[in-house]
Amino acid sequence: MDSAPAPFVPPAPSPRTVPPNLLKMFWIVYNNPIELWGEPSYTLPYVYVRPGIGGPLLVANDPSLIRHILVEKQKSFKLARVRQLVLKPILDDGLLTAENPVWKRSRKAMAPVFTPRHINGFADAMLRKTHEFADRYDRRSGSFDVAQDMTELTFEILAETLFSGQIAGDPQEFGEKVEHLFETVARVDPFDILHFPEWVPRYSRVRGRRTLQYFFNIVRETVDMRKAMMEKGKEVPDDFLTLLLSLEGPEGLSRKEIDDNVITFFGAGYETTARALGWTLYLLAKAPHERAKVEEEVRRVTSSVSNPAQWIDAMPYTRACFEEAMRLYPPAPTLSREAVEDTEWQGVTITKGTQAMIMPWTLHRHREFWEQPDAFMPSRFLPGNREQIEKYQYLPFGAGPRICIGASFALQEAMIALGVLLSRFRFDMAEGAPEPWPVQKLTTQPKGGLHMVATRL
Ligand code: HEM
Repeated sequence: MDSAPAPFVPPAPSPRTVPPNLLKMFWIVYNNPIELWGEPSYTLPYVYVRPGIGGPLLVANDPSLIRHILVEKQKSFKLARVRQLVLKPILDDGLLTAENPVWKRSRKAMAPVFTPRHINGFADAMLRKTHEFADRYDRRSGSFDVAQDMTELTFEILAETLFSGQIAGDPQEFGEKVEHLFETVARVDPFDILHFPEWVPRYSRVRGRRTLQYFFNIVRETVDMRKAMMEKGKEVPDDFLTLLLSLEGPEGLSRKEIDDNVITFFGAGYETTARALGWTLYLLAKAPHERAKVEEEVRRVTSSVSNPAQWIDAMPYTRACFEEAMRLYPPAPTLSREAVEDTEWQGVTITKGTQAMIMPWTLHRHREFWEQPDAFMPSRFLPGNREQIEKYQYLPFGAGPRICIGASFALQEAMIALGVLLSRFRFDMAEGAPEPWPVQKLTTQPKGGLHMVATRL
C-alpha cells in the first residue's frame, strides 16, 4: 500500500486578519505586494474597495467575474496605469504593452510564429542548451543558487531560439545588462504608488537609463545584421528573429515593432519560466515522495522517447508538478486592468477608473476553490483530476485575448529542462540553506535564493 506522507506546505504569507496602517501599506506595496492581502481576498468572490488609493480597487476571484473582465468585456478594461508606467518605456509597442489597433494587428500577425509546428521546431535547441547547462553542473561541486542558475538556463534557451547566438555584441554582457535592466527600470517606484505625475523623474528608472540605451542599440544592430543577411539572400537560421522579420509590412509588423517585440520576449519570456522551474525543483526537493515519481518518469521517458517535443505528453506527472508549482508560486502573480467605462456584472456596477486586479496569487490559494490550498499536491493536475479545475480558477498564463502567447513555448521548454535535469541529477536543499520567501517583483522570486546541491544520478 502507498503510505503517502502528509503533503508539504511551502512558505507563503498568511492572509492578513487586520489591515495594515497607511504607512505600512505603502511599505508592503513597494517591497512585496503579495503580503498585502487579507482574508477576504482569499475567501470572497470579490472585494471592492471604493475609494482605494488612486481610485476604486476591485479584487476579482469569482471565475465569472474574471471572465467578464478578461474576456466578455475586455474592451472596457485597458492595461493598468502603473503596469504601463513601468513597462511601456522599455517594451513600447511590443505585444505585452501595446493596446488597441497596434496590439490587435501585432497579435494577429504574430500568432503564426507561435504555432505548434514552430514551437516543436525549437525543441532540439532547447534540449541542446539544457544539456550544455547540465554539463556545467557536472563539473561543479558544493551548493549553488538554483534560482539564479535557472535564469541563466532560460536566458540561454531564449537567446538561442530568438537569434541563434547571432547577436551584435558580447552575449555575456548582453545577459548581464538584461538582468540589470529589468531590476532597475522595470520596478514600481514609490512615486508610481503615490500617483505622482509622469513627468516627475523616478530614481529607479533614471538609474537604468544608460542600460536601456545600450539595450536598444544592441537589439537594433542585431536586427539590422539579420535583415542585411536576408536581403543579400544569405542562409539564415530558422529562429524567432527570422520569423519576426518575415512579418515586416503594413499588415504585419513595422520595423520598430519588431525591435520592441524582441525586447518584449526578453521581458516576458525567460525570468517567468526560470521562476517556475526554480520553484518546481525546490518543491520536489521538499517532497521526496513526489520527486521519486518524477525521477522514475523522466528516466523512462528521456531514455525511450527520442523527440523532446513529445516529452510534454509523455510526462504527465512531471507536468503536474510544474503546474502545481505555478499554482503555488505563479510567476506572474497579478494581472491588472483599469475600467475605461462603467460595466455591470451580476448587479454590481464596476465604475470607470476602477483598478481591477485578477491575482493568480490569491486565486490559486482561494479557500473556496482548492482543497488544502497551501499544500503541494501535484495530483490535482493529473489527467482525471485536472478536468475538475475551473478554467478561470487557475491562470498562470492569464486568459482571454491577451493570454500569454508564449505559453506552449514555456511549457515545452520546462518539460525539456526538467526531463534533462532530473534524469541527470537529484536536487536537494543544501544543508543549513534558508527557506526561500516568495517576493513579488516583476515575477514571484524566492528571496534569499534556492541553495541546493545536485547529486549525479
Ligand atoms: C512560465 C512562463 C510564463 C508565464 C507564467 C507567463 C505568464 C504570462 C501572463 C500571465 C500573461 C498575461 C498578462 C496579462 O494579461 O496582463 C502573459 C503575456 C505574455 N507573455 Fe507570457 N508567460 C510565460 C512565458 C512566456 C514566454 C516564454 C514568452 C515569449 C517567448 C512570453 C511572452 C508573452 C507575451 C508577448 C505576452 C503578451 C500577450 C498579449 O498581451 O497579447 N511569455 N504571460
